Amino acid sequence: MSAFDTVTLPDPVPTGESSLEHILATRRSDRSFAMTPLTLQQVGQLLWACQGVTSEDGKRTAPSAFGLFSLSIYVAPRIVTSLDQGLYRYIPAQHQLEGVGSDKDMYRFIAEVLVEGSTYDSAADFLLTGSLPPLKEKKGDFALPELCLEAGHAAQNVLLQATSLGLASVPIGAIHAEQAKEFIAEGLDAVYAVQVGHPAGISSDRP
Ligand SMILES: Cc1cc2nc3c(=O)[nH]c(=O)nc-3n(C[C@H](O)[C@H](O)[C@H](O)COP(=O)(O)O)c2cc1C
Repeated sequence: MSAFDTVTLPDPVPTGESSLEHILATRRSDRSFAMTPLTLQQVGQLLWACQGVTSEDGKRTAPSAFGLFSLSIYVAPRIVTSLDQGLYRYIPAQHQLEGVGSDKDMYRFIAEVLVEGSTYDSAADFLLTGSLPPLKEKKGDFALPELCLEAGHAAQNVLLQATSLGLASVPIGAIHAEQAKEFIAEGLDAVYAVQVGHPAGISSDRP
């Protein structure tokens, strides 16, 4: 599968084995990842949790400032079965990935955008970006904080979904936003990231 293909993701599974309370009680930032690939199903489930469409009028798993749905989610897989390395953009309405960069080193480039992220060898990095101009029209100076809040909701969904799937995850707020502009669509700003993989099972406090 080439990175410029459109990838239809497996349908998200609407049920889980753990209660929300158990997931909340056990979520932890885990920065030590095993070299075990994620499956396409797991990546699709994480993206659905992040920004999946859950109603006929296009509303999503996470709330959105002014209902503008300003976020765009990119994923850079390092080791994911049936998904070539590269850079992909999530299309929520179709639950698909659009390949936007086929460079095999894209994972490394994205990891470099995460100030500390390159030290964590996750199986996939999720980059949360957003479009500010429409929010600015509605919210003026509040646009950037509101975009960041929206990204926070979406990122938390990824972290909780990862916990529910028995995966390790860590949110990364330290991002070289200007450097990210090299890889993402014009008009978008990178605001947050989540790294995900199978847990290596060793303690991984922030260095
Ligand atoms: C906005 C935000 C930014 C963060 N950025 C980073 C980061 O750049 N690198 C990192 O290793 N952890 C990062 N973290 C994770 C925190 O270090 C972690 O959540 C905190 O130590 C509490 O631990 P816990 O997540 O296991 O409960 C971030 C967390 C938040 C909420």
